[in-house]
Amino acid sequence: MREPIVEPVKNPEPESSTTTVENKGRRDFLRHSAAGVSIFVASSPLARAMSFDDEFEVEHKTVRLRRLPEKLKGTKIAMISDIHSGPYMSHQEMLPFMKRIRELKPDVVLIPGDFVDRDIAQADPVCEALRTIEAPYGVYGCTGNHDYYADADYVSNELQNAGVRMLRNEHAVLDIKGEQLALIGVDDIGSEQPFDPAFRQAVQGLKRSIPNILLCHKPYYLDDASEWGVDFMVSGHTHGGQFVLARVLGTVITPAALFSGYIEGLYRRDRSQLYVTRGIGTVGIPVRLNCPPEITLITLV
Ligand SMILES: [Fe+2]
Repeated sequence: MREPIVEPVKNPEPESSTTTVENKGRRDFLRHSAAGVSIFVASSPLARAMSFDDEFEVEHKTVRLRRLPEKLKGTKIAMISDIHSGPYMSHQEMLPFMKRIRELKPDVVLIPGDFVDRDIAQADPVCEALRTIEAPYGVYGCTGNHDYYADADYVSNELQNAGVRMLRNEHAVLDIKGEQLALIGVDDIGSEQPFDPAFRQAVQGLKRSIPNILLCHKPYYLDDASEWGVDFMVSGHTHGGQFVLARVLGTVITPAALFSGYIEGLYRRDRSQLYVTRGIGTVGIPVRLNCPPEITLITLV
């Protein structure tokens, strides 16, 4: 039996979210893609149809959190994920994202995993890019499965040196205007250990009365997080499906939906909410279809 980390709340206020999308920025990843793939991409009609998703979007979300103290209302969280530093995401290609994050002036920045694609040499470019962003209450991250394909310890240490506080089965309590907000981070579930022991270790010593946000690379653990009493979970991993065939009445039609019920956007389980970002990088081939890279700006209310 899991003992929730939060106090039960009687008659919680209704939760709701609103969204606006801002088109911004044009990436030039085709020019920088690996040569063989570039030739394929540039020459095929299919690829010409795909290439429009080199524009990224800023998704503005308003997320209503129960238990949020009055003084924390309006707190702005910028999130990017799945940077996948590597052959299809160079240092130069990361910079427009960093510039836009600086312009958004968030209070805190969250990056839930997959900083690199699969090699420790890819840590340096992403660390250099992340050095260019800062936020009054810090930049926080957790590991993703691709960070493990490289070396999660090495990548995390480099990120720490670059100013990213990596939450590896641990938490941090932010003091914002005299009120507290807990950030909890778990290492990639499945690469290291199952959810429960990682989470139990992460919340050791955390007061149950403090509202919390969980960074967990894979979104599959919303049910577990909900049972533990997590208020708000943020994830990446799915890349929004990366190849989206269509969107029908809010449902994303993508092969990735065969493997996960969580693809992009907001989800809820009981009193817990989850936001899954499409991230900014790619896996496999450097192409997104109907699925532009995303910076998320979350305003807590
Ligand atoms: Fe990823």
